[in-house]
Amino acid sequence: MATKLTSILFLFFWGVTAQNTCNNSTLNTTVSTWPVTSTDTIYSISTSTNRSICDIARANRMSDATLMVAGETLLIPGETCDDNQGDTSCLISNSTYYRTCVPGGLHTYNTRYNDTRASIALKFEVSLDTITLMDKSANSTAGIIPTDSQLKIPQCSPSQCTVQPYKFTYGTYVDLAIQFNTTVGQIMAFNPTYNYSGEADASEGPVISMPMNCVNLTGNVTVIA
Ligand SMILES: *[C@@H]1O[C@H](CO)[C@@H](O)[C@H](O)[C@H]1NC(C)=O
Ligand SMILES: *[C@@H]1O[C@H](CO)[C@@H](O)[C@H](O)[C@H]1NC(C)=O
Ligand SMILES: *[C@@H]1O[C@H](CO)[C@@H](O)[C@H](O)[C@H]1NC(C)=O
Ligand SMILES: *[C@@H]1O[C@H](CO)[C@@H](O)[C@H](O)[C@H]1NC(C)=O
Ligand SMILES: *[C@@H]1O[C@H](CO)[C@@H](O)[C@H](O)[C@H]1NC(C)=O
Ligand SMILES: *[C@@H]1O[C@H](CO)[C@@H](O)[C@H](O)[C@H]1NC(C)=O
Ligand SMILES: *[C@@H]1O[C@H](CO)[C@@H](O)[C@H](O)[C@H]1NC(C)=O
Ligand SMILES: *[C@@H]1O[C@H](CO)[C@@H](O)[C@H](O)[C@H]1NC(C)=O
Ligand SMILES: *[C@@H]1O[C@H](CO)[C@@H](O)[C@H](O)[C@H]1NC(C)=O
Ligand SMILES: *[C@@H]1O[C@H](CO)[C@@H](O)[C@H](O)[C@H]1NC(C)=O
Ligand SMILES: *[C@@H]1O[C@H](CO)[C@@H](O)[C@H](O)[C@H]1NC(C)=O
Repeated sequence: MATKLTSILFLFFWGVTAQNTCNNSTLNTTVSTWPVTSTDTIYSISTSTNRSICDIARANRMSDATLMVAGETLLIPGETCDDNQGDTSCLISNSTYYRTCVPGGLHTYNTRYNDTRASIALKFEVSLDTITLMDKSANSTAGIIPTDSQLKIPQCSPSQCTVQPYKFTYGTYVDLAIQFNTTVGQIMAFNPTYNYSGEADASEGPVISMPMNCVNLTGNVTVIA
Protein backbone atom coordinates (compact mmCIF):
# COMPACT_ATOMS: atom_id res chain seq x y z
CA MET A 1 0.00 0.00 0.00
CA ALA A 2 2.73 2.44 1.03
CA THR A 3 4.77 1.48 -2.03
CA LYS A 4 1.80 2.04 -4.31
CA LEU A 5 1.16 5.47 -2.84
CA THR A 6 4.82 6.41 -3.23
CA SER A 7 4.84 5.40 -6.87
CA ILE A 8 1.62 7.31 -7.54
CA LEU A 9 3.09 10.41 -5.90
CA PHE A 10 6.32 9.91 -7.82
CA LEU A 11 4.46 9.74 -11.14
CA PHE A 12 2.45 12.80 -10.17
CA PHE A 13 5.52 14.91 -9.41
CA TRP A 14 7.41 13.53 -12.36
CA GLY A 15 4.47 14.52 -14.57
CA VAL A 16 4.44 18.03 -13.13
CA THR A 17 8.16 18.65 -13.60
CA ALA A 18 8.18 17.07 -17.06
CA GLN A 19 5.34 19.36 -18.03
CA ASN A 20 7.19 22.42 -16.75
CA THR A 21 9.52 22.32 -19.75
CA CYS A 22 12.32 24.75 -20.02
CA ASN A 23 12.01 27.21 -22.90
CA ASN A 24 15.54 27.45 -24.20
CA SER A 25 14.99 30.72 -26.00
CA THR A 26 14.55 32.42 -22.62
CA LEU A 27 17.85 31.15 -21.21
CA ASN A 28 20.76 33.46 -20.47
CA THR A 29 23.44 31.74 -22.52
CA THR A 30 26.10 34.38 -21.86
CA VAL A 31 29.32 32.87 -20.56
CA SER A 32 30.89 34.94 -17.80
CA THR A 33 33.52 34.70 -15.09
CA TRP A 34 33.40 34.79 -11.30
CA PRO A 35 36.28 36.03 -9.15
CA VAL A 36 36.46 33.69 -6.15
CA THR A 37 36.54 35.38 -2.73
CA SER A 38 37.38 33.79 0.62
CA THR A 39 33.70 33.45 1.54
CA ASP A 40 32.64 31.78 -1.72
CA THR A 41 31.77 28.11 -1.95
CA ILE A 42 30.61 26.16 -4.99
CA TYR A 43 27.14 26.21 -3.42
CA SER A 44 27.00 29.99 -2.94
CA ILE A 45 28.27 30.60 -6.47
CA SER A 46 25.67 28.16 -7.80
CA THR A 47 22.93 30.10 -6.02
CA SER A 48 24.21 33.49 -7.19
CA THR A 49 24.56 32.48 -10.83
CA ASN A 50 21.64 30.03 -11.32
CA ARG A 51 24.01 27.35 -12.61
CA SER A 52 24.22 23.94 -10.92
CA ILE A 53 27.33 23.11 -8.93
CA CYS A 54 28.19 20.36 -11.42
CA ASP A 55 27.78 22.55 -14.52
CA ILE A 56 30.18 25.05 -12.94
CA ALA A 57 32.61 22.38 -11.71
CA ARG A 58 32.69 20.55 -15.05
CA ALA A 59 33.10 23.70 -17.13
CA ASN A 60 36.13 24.53 -14.96
CA ARG A 61 37.57 20.98 -15.00
CA MET A 62 37.80 21.04 -11.22
CA SER A 63 39.83 18.35 -9.48
CA ASP A 64 37.53 18.66 -6.46
CA ALA A 65 34.39 20.74 -6.87
CA THR A 66 34.47 21.79 -3.22
CA LEU A 67 38.05 23.09 -3.39
CA MET A 68 38.00 26.82 -4.15
CA VAL A 69 41.00 29.09 -4.01
CA ALA A 70 40.27 32.77 -3.25
CA GLY A 71 41.72 35.06 -5.90
CA GLU A 72 41.18 32.65 -8.78
CA THR A 73 38.55 33.07 -11.47
CA LEU A 74 35.87 30.55 -12.33
CA LEU A 75 34.17 30.26 -15.67
CA ILE A 76 30.38 30.49 -15.45
CA PRO A 77 28.84 28.59 -18.38
CA GLY A 78 25.62 29.68 -20.07
CA GLU A 79 22.28 28.42 -18.74
CA THR A 80 21.10 25.21 -20.37
CA CYS A 81 17.85 23.29 -20.22
CA ASP A 82 19.71 20.10 -19.20
CA ASP A 83 21.26 21.78 -16.19
CA ASN A 84 19.97 19.82 -13.18
CA GLN A 85 20.24 21.92 -10.02
CA GLY A 86 20.17 18.83 -7.78
CA ASP A 87 23.05 17.09 -9.56
CA THR A 88 25.86 16.09 -7.16
CA SER A 89 27.39 13.39 -9.37
CA CYS A 90 30.53 15.53 -9.86
CA LEU A 91 31.32 15.48 -6.11
CA ILE A 92 33.62 13.00 -4.38
CA SER A 93 31.30 10.31 -3.03
CA ASN A 94 30.62 9.74 0.69
CA SER A 95 30.49 5.96 0.26
CA THR A 96 32.14 3.66 2.77
CA TYR A 97 35.02 1.73 1.22
CA TYR A 98 36.57 -1.52 2.44
CA ARG A 99 39.62 -1.74 0.21
CA THR A 100 42.89 -2.04 2.09
CA CYS A 101 45.22 -0.82 -0.66
CA VAL A 102 45.21 1.12 -3.92
CA PRO A 103 45.84 -0.75 -7.18
CA GLY A 104 48.63 0.97 -9.14
CA GLY A 105 50.54 4.18 -8.39
CA LEU A 106 51.42 6.58 -7.09
CA HIS A 107 52.76 5.50 -3.76
CA THR A 108 52.81 9.03 -2.32
CA TYR A 109 50.23 11.80 -2.09
CA ASN A 110 50.72 15.44 -1.16
CA THR A 111 47.75 16.55 0.93
CA ARG A 112 45.47 19.23 -0.49
CA TYR A 113 43.87 22.15 1.30
CA ASN A 114 41.52 20.97 4.10
CA ASP A 115 42.35 17.27 3.68
CA THR A 116 41.58 14.98 6.60
CA ARG A 117 42.25 11.26 6.93
CA ALA A 118 38.58 10.72 6.10
CA SER A 119 38.70 12.86 2.94
CA ILE A 120 41.86 11.10 1.76
CA ALA A 121 40.26 7.68 2.30
CA LEU A 122 37.33 8.78 0.12
CA LYS A 123 39.63 10.11 -2.60
CA PHE A 124 41.52 6.79 -2.79
CA GLU A 125 38.43 4.64 -2.15
CA VAL A 126 40.03 2.79 0.76
CA SER A 127 38.86 2.25 4.33
CA LEU A 128 39.58 4.92 6.93
CA ASP A 129 41.57 2.33 8.92
CA THR A 130 43.89 1.92 5.95
CA ILE A 131 44.77 5.62 5.87
CA THR A 132 45.06 5.78 9.66
CA LEU A 133 47.54 2.89 9.65
CA MET A 134 49.64 4.52 6.96
CA ASP A 135 49.58 8.10 8.19
CA LYS A 136 52.20 8.17 10.92
CA SER A 137 52.48 11.97 11.07
CA ALA A 138 52.03 13.02 14.66
CA ASN A 139 50.00 16.12 13.88
CA SER A 140 47.13 14.48 12.09
CA THR A 141 45.48 12.20 14.65
CA ALA A 142 42.25 13.93 13.71
CA GLY A 143 41.12 16.96 11.81
CA ILE A 144 42.79 18.83 9.04
CA ILE A 145 46.26 17.76 7.89
CA PRO A 146 48.53 20.65 6.86
CA THR A 147 48.48 21.24 3.08
CA ASP A 148 51.31 19.62 1.13
CA SER A 149 52.18 17.02 3.79
CA GLN A 150 53.52 13.93 2.07
CA LEU A 151 51.62 10.75 2.83
CA LYS A 152 52.46 7.16 1.90
CA ILE A 153 49.59 5.50 0.11
CA PRO A 154 49.24 1.74 0.73
CA GLN A 155 49.68 -0.04 -2.58
CA CYS A 156 48.38 -3.42 -3.65
CA SER A 157 51.12 -5.71 -4.91
CA PRO A 158 51.21 -6.80 -7.66
CA SER A 159 49.07 -4.13 -9.34
CA GLN A 160 49.39 -1.52 -12.07
CA CYS A 161 47.93 1.48 -13.89
CA THR A 162 48.67 2.54 -17.46
CA VAL A 163 49.66 6.21 -17.35
CA GLN A 164 49.10 8.36 -20.42
CA PRO A 165 48.82 12.06 -21.22
CA TYR A 166 45.17 13.11 -21.47
CA LYS A 167 43.68 16.36 -22.73
CA PHE A 168 41.16 17.31 -20.08
CA THR A 169 38.40 19.31 -21.77
CA TYR A 170 35.30 18.87 -19.57
CA GLY A 171 34.33 17.28 -16.25
CA THR A 172 35.73 16.79 -12.77
CA TYR A 173 38.21 14.21 -11.48
CA VAL A 174 35.22 12.17 -10.28
CA ASP A 175 34.04 11.88 -13.90
CA LEU A 176 37.56 10.93 -15.05
CA ALA A 177 37.98 8.33 -12.29
CA ILE A 178 34.78 6.60 -13.41
CA GLN A 179 35.69 6.82 -17.09
CA PHE A 180 39.23 5.50 -16.67
CA ASN A 181 38.81 3.02 -13.80
CA THR A 182 40.98 4.81 -11.32
CA THR A 183 40.45 7.03 -8.26
CA VAL A 184 40.35 10.78 -7.69
CA GLY A 185 43.27 10.41 -5.27
CA GLN A 186 45.46 8.74 -7.89
CA ILE A 187 44.74 11.45 -10.49
CA MET A 188 45.61 14.05 -7.83
CA ALA A 189 48.82 12.20 -6.91
CA PHE A 190 49.94 12.17 -10.57
CA ASN A 191 49.08 15.88 -11.00
CA PRO A 192 50.11 17.52 -7.71
CA THR A 193 49.87 21.14 -8.87
CA TYR A 194 46.60 20.92 -10.80
CA ASN A 195 43.40 22.25 -9.24
CA TYR A 196 41.24 23.48 -12.09
CA SER A 197 41.35 25.30 -15.36
CA GLY A 198 38.71 27.88 -16.23
CA GLU A 199 39.60 28.37 -19.89
CA ALA A 200 36.55 29.47 -21.88
CA ASP A 201 37.70 27.52 -24.94
CA ALA A 202 37.48 23.77 -24.31
CA SER A 203 40.27 23.17 -26.84
CA GLU A 204 42.54 25.00 -24.37
CA GLY A 205 42.02 22.21 -21.83
CA PRO A 206 45.20 21.20 -20.02
CA VAL A 207 47.04 17.93 -20.61
CA ILE A 208 47.23 15.89 -17.41
CA SER A 209 48.90 12.57 -16.54
CA MET A 210 46.07 10.07 -16.47
CA PRO A 211 46.38 6.78 -14.57
CA MET A 212 44.09 4.38 -16.44
CA ASN A 213 42.72 0.88 -15.78
CA CYS A 214 44.28 0.55 -12.35
CA VAL A 215 43.97 -3.11 -11.37
CA ASN A 216 45.31 -5.81 -9.06
CA LEU A 217 47.32 -8.27 -11.14
CA THR A 218 46.37 -11.31 -9.05
CA GLY A 219 43.54 -12.21 -6.74
CA ASN A 220 45.95 -12.51 -3.82
CA VAL A 221 47.68 -9.19 -3.40
CA THR A 222 49.74 -8.02 -0.45
CA VAL A 223 49.68 -4.50 0.92
CA ILE A 224 52.88 -2.47 0.62
CA ALA A 225 53.08 0.21 3.27
C1 LIG B 1 9.72 30.41 -25.80
O1 LIG B 1 10.05 31.77 -25.56
C2 LIG B 1 9.94 32.57 -26.77
C3 LIG B 1 10.49 33.97 -26.44
O2 LIG B 1 10.04 34.37 -25.18
C4 LIG B 1 8.50 32.57 -27.22
O3 LIG B 1 8.38 33.33 -28.42
C5 LIG B 1 8.05 31.14 -27.51
O4 LIG B 1 6.67 31.10 -27.83
C6 LIG B 1 8.29 30.26 -26.27
N1 LIG B 1 8.01 28.88 -26.63
C7 LIG B 1 7.27 28.09 -25.88
C8 LIG B 1 7.11 26.68 -26.36
O5 LIG B 1 6.78 28.47 -24.83
C1 LIG C 1 15.87 24.63 -28.15
O1 LIG C 1 14.80 23.70 -28.10
C2 LIG C 1 14.36 23.27 -29.37
C3 LIG C 1 13.11 22.44 -29.16
O2 LIG C 1 13.24 21.56 -28.08
C4 LIG C 1 15.50 22.52 -30.05
O3 LIG C 1 15.09 22.10 -31.34
C5 LIG C 1 16.69 23.44 -30.18
O4 LIG C 1 17.79 22.75 -30.71
C6 LIG C 1 17.09 24.01 -28.84
N1 LIG C 1 18.12 25.02 -29.01
C7 LIG C 1 19.21 25.07 -28.26
C8 LIG C 1 20.16 26.19 -28.53
O5 LIG C 1 19.43 24.26 -27.36
C1 LIG D 1 23.15 37.14 -18.33
O1 LIG D 1 24.24 36.66 -17.54
C2 LIG D 1 25.32 37.56 -17.51
C3 LIG D 1 26.40 36.86 -16.70
O2 LIG D 1 26.64 35.60 -17.24
C4 LIG D 1 24.93 38.86 -16.85
O3 LIG D 1 26.02 39.74 -16.86
C5 LIG D 1 23.74 39.45 -17.61
O4 LIG D 1 23.28 40.58 -16.93
C6 LIG D 1 22.64 38.43 -17.73
N1 LIG D 1 21.57 38.96 -18.57
C7 LIG D 1 20.31 39.02 -18.20
C8 LIG D 1 19.35 39.58 -19.19
O5 LIG D 1 19.96 38.61 -17.10
C1 LIG E 1 17.74 29.29 -14.10
O1 LIG E 1 18.20 28.37 -15.09
C2 LIG E 1 17.17 27.54 -15.59
C3 LIG E 1 17.82 26.57 -16.55
O2 LIG E 1 18.77 25.82 -15.86
C4 LIG E 1 16.09 28.36 -16.28
O3 LIG E 1 15.06 27.52 -16.72
C5 LIG E 1 15.56 29.39 -15.31
O4 LIG E 1 14.68 30.25 -16.01
C6 LIG E 1 16.68 30.21 -14.71
N1 LIG E 1 16.14 31.08 -13.68
C7 LIG E 1 16.46 32.34 -13.60
C8 LIG E 1 15.86 33.11 -12.47
O5 LIG E 1 17.22 32.90 -14.42
C1 LIG F 1 28.95 14.10 2.24
O1 LIG F 1 28.53 14.32 3.57
C2 LIG F 1 28.70 15.64 4.03
C3 LIG F 1 28.34 15.69 5.49
O2 LIG F 1 27.24 14.86 5.76
C4 LIG F 1 27.83 16.57 3.18
O3 LIG F 1 28.02 17.90 3.60
C5 LIG F 1 28.22 16.43 1.72
O4 LIG F 1 27.35 17.21 0.90
C6 LIG F 1 28.14 14.97 1.28
N1 LIG F 1 28.66 14.86 -0.07
C7 LIG F 1 28.07 14.11 -1.01
C8 LIG F 1 28.72 14.08 -2.36
O5 LIG F 1 27.07 13.50 -0.80
C1 LIG G 1 42.80 -5.20 -4.83
O1 LIG G 1 43.13 -5.93 -3.70
C2 LIG G 1 42.81 -5.29 -2.45
C3 LIG G 1 43.41 -6.10 -1.32
O2 LIG G 1 42.93 -7.40 -1.38
C4 LIG G 1 41.31 -5.20 -2.35
O3 LIG G 1 40.95 -4.55 -1.14
C5 LIG G 1 40.80 -4.37 -3.54
O4 LIG G 1 39.39 -4.36 -3.56
C6 LIG G 1 41.30 -4.94 -4.85
N1 LIG G 1 41.02 -3.97 -5.87
C7 LIG G 1 40.30 -4.24 -6.95
C8 LIG G 1 40.08 -3.14 -7.91
O5 LIG G 1 39.88 -5.34 -7.16
C1 LIG H 1 46.34 23.65 -5.84
O1 LIG H 1 46.26 22.92 -4.62
C2 LIG H 1 47.52 22.59 -4.07
C3 LIG H 1 47.26 21.70 -2.87
O2 LIG H 1 46.37 22.29 -2.00
C4 LIG H 1 48.23 23.87 -3.72
O3 LIG H 1 49.49 23.56 -3.16
C5 LIG H 1 48.42 24.69 -4.98
O4 LIG H 1 48.98 25.92 -4.66
C6 LIG H 1 47.09 24.93 -5.66
N1 LIG H 1 47.35 25.50 -6.94
C7 LIG H 1 46.80 26.61 -7.33
C8 LIG H 1 47.14 27.07 -8.71
O5 LIG H 1 46.06 27.23 -6.60
C1 LIG I 1 38.04 24.02 5.58
O1 LIG I 1 37.78 23.42 6.85
C2 LIG I 1 37.29 24.31 7.83
C3 LIG I 1 37.21 23.58 9.15
O2 LIG I 1 36.46 22.40 9.02
C4 LIG I 1 35.93 24.84 7.39
O3 LIG I 1 35.44 25.77 8.33
C5 LIG I 1 36.08 25.51 6.03
O4 LIG I 1 34.80 25.88 5.55
C6 LIG I 1 36.72 24.58 5.02
N1 LIG I 1 36.96 25.32 3.80
C7 LIG I 1 36.55 24.90 2.62
C8 LIG I 1 36.85 25.79 1.46
O5 LIG I 1 35.97 23.84 2.47
C1 LIG J 1 53.49 19.53 14.69
O1 LIG J 1 52.92 20.64 15.37
C2 LIG J 1 53.86 21.34 16.17
C3 LIG J 1 53.09 22.40 16.95
O2 LIG J 1 52.13 23.02 16.16
C4 LIG J 1 54.94 21.93 15.28
O3 LIG J 1 55.91 22.60 16.09
C5 LIG J 1 55.64 20.79 14.52
O4 LIG J 1 56.57 21.33 13.62
C6 LIG J 1 54.60 19.98 13.75
N1 LIG J 1 55.24 18.82 13.13
C7 LIG J 1 55.03 18.48 11.86
C8 LIG J 1 55.74 17.25 11.39
O5 LIG J 1 54.29 19.09 11.10
C1 LIG K 1 37.79 -1.75 -13.75
O1 LIG K 1 38.62 -2.65 -13.04
C2 LIG K 1 37.92 -3.71 -12.39
C3 LIG K 1 38.87 -4.49 -11.54
O2 LIG K 1 39.86 -5.09 -12.32
C4 LIG K 1 37.25 -4.55 -13.47
O3 LIG K 1 36.50 -5.55 -12.83
C5 LIG K 1 36.33 -3.68 -14.31
O4 LIG K 1 35.80 -4.42 -15.37
C6 LIG K 1 37.09 -2.48 -14.89
N1 LIG K 1 36.16 -1.59 -15.52
C7 LIG K 1 36.42 -1.01 -16.69
C8 LIG K 1 35.37 -0.09 -17.21
O5 LIG K 1 37.45 -1.22 -17.31
C1 LIG L 1 48.73 -15.21 -0.83
O1 LIG L 1 50.06 -14.75 -0.89
C2 LIG L 1 50.77 -14.95 0.34
C3 LIG L 1 52.13 -14.28 0.20
O2 LIG L 1 52.52 -14.17 -1.10
C4 LIG L 1 50.86 -16.46 0.63
O3 LIG L 1 51.54 -16.64 1.86
C5 LIG L 1 49.45 -17.00 0.74
O4 LIG L 1 49.50 -18.40 0.90
C6 LIG L 1 48.66 -16.69 -0.53
N1 LIG L 1 47.27 -17.09 -0.31
C7 LIG L 1 46.59 -17.74 -1.25
C8 LIG L 1 45.15 -18.06 -0.89
O5 LIG L 1 47.05 -18.04 -2.32
